Amino acid sequence: MVSRVIPVDPFDLVIFGGTGDLAKRKILPGLFRRFVSGQMPSEALIMGAARAKMNDTEYRDLVKIAILEFGSASLDEKLLVDFLDKVTYLRIDATGEAGWLELSQSMRNGPVRAFYFSVAPSLFGALAERLKKHKIALSDSRIVVEKPFGRDLESAKILNATLAAHFSEDQIYRIDHYLGKETVQNLMAVRFGNLLFEPLWNSQYIDHIQITVAEKVDVEGRGEYYNTSGAMRDMVQNHLMQLLCLIAMEPPAQFNPDAVRDEKLKVIRALDKVPPHHIVRGQYEASSDSFGYREHANDAKSRTESYVAIKAHVSNWRWAGTPFYMRTGKRLRSRCSEIAVVFKQPPHSIFGSEAGTHRNALVIRLQPDEGITMDMTIKEPGPGGMRLITVPLDMTFSEALGPAAEEVPDAYERLIMDVIRGNQTLFMRGDEVEAAWEWTDPIIKGWKERNDVPKPYDAGSSGPDDALMLLHREDRKWRPI
Ligand code: BG6
Repeated sequence: MVSRVIPVDPFDLVIFGGTGDLAKRKILPGLFRRFVSGQMPSEALIMGAARAKMNDTEYRDLVKIAILEFGSASLDEKLLVDFLDKVTYLRIDATGEAGWLELSQSMRNGPVRAFYFSVAPSLFGALAERLKKHKIALSDSRIVVEKPFGRDLESAKILNATLAAHFSEDQIYRIDHYLGKETVQNLMAVRFGNLLFEPLWNSQYIDHIQITVAEKVDVEGRGEYYNTSGAMRDMVQNHLMQLLCLIAMEPPAQFNPDAVRDEKLKVIRALDKVPPHHIVRGQYEASSDSFGYREHANDAKSRTESYVAIKAHVSNWRWAGTPFYMRTGKRLRSRCSEIAVVFKQPPHSIFGSEAGTHRNALVIRLQPDEGITMDMTIKEPGPGGMRLITVPLDMTFSEALGPAAEEVPDAYERLIMDVIRGNQTLFMRGDEVEAAWEWTDPIIKGWKERNDVPKPYDAGSSGPDDALMLLHREDRKWRPI
């Protein structure tokens, strides 16, 4: 299989927060990989912009170190030198006037202009205003903003209004990096590229759906941010809800930005309010060899959840009666993200009760070991009558597709290239983000009002026992993680 790399148009990309963690871990190494692949054209320019006093050479050293640490394993020195040649640095004051004239003078006429706001949301307004005031951003320029996009409906509305005062919706690219993952896009390919599943894709045939994003890591030095956020704001409001939308949405008429986002929005709006007994919050405990959440967050009384499991319902014609179980957490047994579509049992077993009854399940593994498994019921081999067993039909993408499956760009690389191409399909629209907060806000407020204390769980486990009960009491069970 040949990977087709089509170079994007020449661009000037300014990364505000160009010395920050995200720039170093994801944006700059990602751009380097796109350069190596031939997708980033040689006429492109990248400018890091931040408060620190630094010259181009010092910034290039920082970029080089970031690429060596977080970039590709094999590195071509010549390509790295060529890439660094396209990188410059500008000291700028986001809330003052210093640096803006210089930025304006360094923009070229012709290339696409994109501005990555890799900074705290409190600076979005100041940046947007100055980009417009100094005529640095043109009518077709793009801005890229990161999650968290607000911390509730009210703050998200304010942020949307702030950006909308200077930019039109088709210039605003709100990143949810899960949408940039290859296998997440595969969800749409599997659903809408095969005839096989669509007739069965409804509550008549599907018993329930499980969406799992389990992480082995702890809060990784981000305790201060995480403690004000928790799993609900950090993962559910964005990544898990996006996955739910892609599974539950109606087929859009076309794979274009508004058609796809209209359908996702309808799903979010059809979500029922979640009663408290359909949610389990958890917090990991210390173990003999690692700290617990409260130590990591440096808050001995923290009630922030590092785990959450939810039973949700999409109240529309297709899904009435089919629960969507979602769970995500840190410090769990393994890193495992998958979506399992569990079908109903056949209406009648011709083999009698001794043969056992089994359910088909379509499992889409997002990471690691990306692939698709279809659990099928077959006869247990050997003599002794008709006994049934379930075996997986397993397709691991790296085996099925060969080296091309290994060469796919990571989520950030793909999304930045989409910004330059002007394709918003994999970005969240303002109304979508607000609708997601509208659903999560009452859940978070409810915890606060009830002084809810998260259930403890052992680090390295599969989460709190109460989360198991969420399914057990309905005669279902979570897939192992
Ligand atoms: C981020 C969250 O958005 O996604 C992190 O802030 C989380 O807490 C991360 O670890 C997970 O992303 P991935 O791509 O590693 O699954």
